[in-house]
Amino acid sequence: MFRPLTLNRINKNGVCAVKEFNNNGICRLTSTNVLKKKINLDILRSAIEKEFKNQNYPDTLSLAEIKNKRIVNLIEGILDSEYIKNFFSQLEQTNDCGPVSLLPLQGNIMRNCFSGPQCGKHGWHRDAEKEYKIEYCSKLMETKRYVFGKLSIALQFNNDYGGNIDIIPNSFSASSYYSRKIKILKKITSKLLSKNLFKGVNPLNNTEWLGDSFYKIFDPQSLNVKPLEVICFDPRIEHRGTPHSPMAWNHLKSKNDDLIIKKNTLSNTNHLPFELNKYMIYFHFGSEDGLVSNLCGRRDLDTYSNEIGTLQEQIDNLKLFNEIFPNSKRIFKNALKKVDLAMGI
Ligand SMILES: [Fe+2]
Repeated sequence: MFRPLTLNRINKNGVCAVKEFNNNGICRLTSTNVLKKKINLDILRSAIEKEFKNQNYPDTLSLAEIKNKRIVNLIEGILDSEYIKNFFSQLEQTNDCGPVSLLPLQGNIMRNCFSGPQCGKHGWHRDAEKEYKIEYCSKLMETKRYVFGKLSIALQFNNDYGGNIDIIPNSFSASSYYSRKIKILKKITSKLLSKNLFKGVNPLNNTEWLGDSFYKIFDPQSLNVKPLEVICFDPRIEHRGTPHSPMAWNHLKSKNDDLIIKKNTLSNTNHLPFELNKYMIYFHFGSEDGLVSNLCGRRDLDTYSNEIGTLQEQIDNLKLFNEIFPNSKRIFKNALKKVDLAMGI
């Protein structure tokens, strides 16, 4: 884990959060002190683990497919917050971007998702990578009306076993693709990590992390907020899931030899101590132009129509979109129409 990132202080009118979000692409929206009801973290984590088990351990779950309604109620309770609503209103005023609201996201709860330098992956990316490659999206991203990002709630602290994300603070830029330096380094480290060129050279026997550690020249920082605090980040900031430290990984492997990171998810974790599981809750939020750009970026994927089905199911069935954030439905409906128009169908 890198040194912790310092985030803005919380104020109810959302002014500090909007300033931080527009300048740095990441900010804190709520602290646990402002939750209307106290939430027992262990009970929520246990209920989520049971739900994943009952559904045969998928990588992620959509809130609309969760059978245990207590989990859904608790998550809705965290998000039904004046702090978050005021943040959206403040963004609307500051950026003059039309309504901003909570938006659906395919995998709302991610279980044990990590970047895996120990498995040949550095994991650094920007969620907007596909959008930068589409001219229509690039133009939207250059305007203040493009407001988009992820709301995130961690259910653990970040530490040697991971638990949140790492970011490169200075990488946030509204309009350019990568800074050249990051792009070149990513290419080099991908090669080094996949070929494992340092094997047998490094006396610490943590060869894979050595390739990954080149990123230290960009002064990355780790997010370490309290469990249940809500933060948000823009898709144009370079980030990754905090990986296990070499020592923590060796410890896990000594107890469970068949652990492996596949597609950024730690597999075969059924026998790990429960407290070492990582759970992250995510939603999207944004303006209509932000969502249009995001969907245009995903429209060529084979999975696109399935994704839209999942998002629509959340929009139709969750109290979050029917009552708590009433602007979401209209933003979603208008964005879907605009995407078809923009992409020529
Ligand atoms: Fe990401």
